[in-house]
Amino acid sequence: MSLQRGRAFADDDETQIDRSIFSDPVLYRQEIGRVFARSWLFLAHESQFHKPGDFHSTYMGTDPVIVVRQKDGSYKVLLNSCRHRGMRVCRYDSGNAKAFTCSYHGWAYATDGSLLSVPDETAAYGEGLDHSAWGLATAPRVETYKGLIFATWDPEIPPLVEYLGDFTYYLDVLVDPDEEGCSVATGVHRWRMQGNWKLAAEQFAGDMYHAASTHLSAFIAEAPHSKGIRPPERGFQAGVDGGHGLGGYAAYPYWQSQGFSPEVEDWMGAFWERAAQRLGRARTTDAVFIHGTCFPNLSLLFNRWHLRVWHPKGPDSMEVHSWSLLPNSAPPAVRRALLLDYQRHFSASGTWEQDDSEQWNYSTNSNDGFITAKLPLHYGMGAGRGPNKGFPEFPGTVDTVYSEINQRGFYRRWSELMAVPHPAEPTTGEAPVTGSAKAVIA
Ligand code: FES
Ligand code: FE
Repeated sequence: MSLQRGRAFADDDETQIDRSIFSDPVLYRQEIGRVFARSWLFLAHESQFHKPGDFHSTYMGTDPVIVVRQKDGSYKVLLNSCRHRGMRVCRYDSGNAKAFTCSYHGWAYATDGSLLSVPDETAAYGEGLDHSAWGLATAPRVETYKGLIFATWDPEIPPLVEYLGDFTYYLDVLVDPDEEGCSVATGVHRWRMQGNWKLAAEQFAGDMYHAASTHLSAFIAEAPHSKGIRPPERGFQAGVDGGHGLGGYAAYPYWQSQGFSPEVEDWMGAFWERAAQRLGRARTTDAVFIHGTCFPNLSLLFNRWHLRVWHPKGPDSMEVHSWSLLPNSAPPAVRRALLLDYQRHFSASGTWEQDDSEQWNYSTNSNDGFITAKLPLHYGMGAGRGPNKGFPEFPGTVDTVYSEINQRGFYRRWSELMAVPHPAEPTTGEAPVTGSAKAVIA
């Protein structure tokens, strides 16, 4: 077995994974530049912004950023780090600001990032401070897809819609199901958990295999209101170019097994009929989408009306940002029921959330052992199997539920990016990435 640094696969058939990708601190620093600084990263939803100066704080890779609505309705993404000593100029999760004033020495920045004022400027700097050179750094590209705001540090990356590619066919079911659109309910949940971010992203991309074991106790607890309704035997995993993937089942009335009231169940049935008129039956009433990941770190739970981002916080830690994204056409009682359903299952204290996070924590920890690190992991489920012909309209490569095709696609894309050093990395050795930021933000 040859363990090749920077390449996820430990074999030529791409069915085994080198465990060091989950624990090696050098690889971790490299992937922040090679993967995160070269991808479109999801930051927020447009429904979180209403007027100029509205902002939302988040991360791009490990960099803190602020998404700010501008006077013309566009968005700027500012690096949340003062140019004087690096202090965060905004320490709130969200709100409205006329300017961002650093609490340390009082440098103030406009909502477009330009340097507005410096306390005691003449006494401190004379005429020597060029404001135009000392504004906050801004992401060079910010684009939206149907309400989803993305940004990137890579000025050369293809347009967002091209980056998403065939994944938009699937994404539209969550973000564009009817003419009234969708919006974020309440705010954004944020919490930290132990585990490497890739284990979470790859599970959401392609792992339905874990559900029966990991979530067994939750299944049992929910049995009284599931009415015996189980997912059908027939399902799929679908992977598209770019490392994106999702999975689901042939159609079944999943909303009748969640303990919803008759009013909610009736609304859901009518909603999916409306969605079928807009998007066609293949992806609405003939199939139920469950989980997905848009490479690298945006994950979706279609049947829970939910988006989340896995922000890396070291090789063994991540910060989750989690949105409940509900159809605007849903009446208040339905919105409340869907929100509670999401919170019960996938908030920080949600039953299914806790089930999953335990697995990522302990897997990351054991992958970092002296002996375990030498043994590759098995990612061969479904390798060599012919395509699943049960969902002929679906773009991409489609396999059955029992497949790791999407995980292999995720790590294929990860490996492609990791194979090319980022220009801001040091040119020699394996020291942490501390090179000139000019190459990133130019
Ligand atoms: Fe911001 Fe000094 S660190 S003003
Ligand atoms: Fe799970």
